[in-house]
Amino acid sequence: MSKVLIIGAAGQIGSELTQKLREIHGNDNVVASDINRSNTQVVNSGLFETLDAKDFDAVKRCIEKYNIDTVYLMAAMLSATGEKHPMMAWDLNMNSLFHVLNLAKEGLIKKIFWPSSIAVFGPTTPSVETPQHTIMEPTTVYGITKQVGERWCEYFHKQYGVDVRSLRYPGIISWKTMPGGGTTDYAVEIYHKAITHKNYECFLSENTELPMMFMDDAIKATTSIMQAPSEAIKIRSSYNLAAISFTPEHIATSIKKHIPDFEISYNPDFRQNIADSWPKSIDDSSARSDWNWKHDYNLEQLTKEMIFQLEKKYSSSEKVS
Ligand code: SER
Repeated sequence: MSKVLIIGAAGQIGSELTQKLREIHGNDNVVASDINRSNTQVVNSGLFETLDAKDFDAVKRCIEKYNIDTVYLMAAMLSATGEKHPMMAWDLNMNSLFHVLNLAKEGLIKKIFWPSSIAVFGPTTPSVETPQHTIMEPTTVYGITKQVGERWCEYFHKQYGVDVRSLRYPGIISWKTMPGGGTTDYAVEIYHKAITHKNYECFLSENTELPMMFMDDAIKATTSIMQAPSEAIKIRSSYNLAAISFTPEHIATSIKKHIPDFEISYNPDFRQNIADSWPKSIDDSSARSDWNWKHDYNLEQLTKEMIFQLEKKYSSSEKVS
């Protein structure tokens, strides 16, 4: 039986991954950890440790305490916040990765999941159906850390046999936990504002197309790559991963089918430059052929689910308050 540690379990993806891994492995075999205890759902639903991903000794102690063999390292500073705190982004994103890679090299853990991102690509990358292997000249600190991280993952696999697996996540859309500090966050905020205010001022321009994915698909991709036999994982840097691509205008149109008086306005800020440097769509055929990746949700299905879940959430919180 696998013993799993999630680092960064309170975040947008970490929180839903924790829930799924608790279902797969059983509550006693999954330890969630984060630097803060603010996500009460994650803290109260099973084993939880307060843990700073940058603290090597603390990470090691936690792994030894619970006999952990598999680590999901979900802690990171994302693209928009990273531009405000470049050195902190470098420190967190790189050192946390080195810690788990080195613990795997020492033989303390057997398997690592580490997410990369579409942010590894830059303005010189072919932006439509971006290939798996292509020019990568990221312009954000976040993108630089993810690209460098990919190279280290591949290095630790080749040199030391570390079983590390990685996905280049697109923008992830979900209703349970808010994203924090990313450029694709608009695609989550828009649903909240559509329900609470019937309007949204978007920080990206109307025709900014970016690769996106519903959370359920992201979790499915993550558990699938981790469950695949080691020989199937031919790419040890990180796999391109795709589902859908859309612009703020497309998403607004799909929301209007459910909320006809919803209005969107545009006021691009510094995040526009980041978005402009990223691909519009991604070729993920390697993931599809190597370990049978397949997404389920298109934009219409995702919008329907987001609105259904958020309406439920806001109406139950109104009843409570
Ligand atoms: N969602 C991330 C961001 O916008 C991209 O990986 O920073």
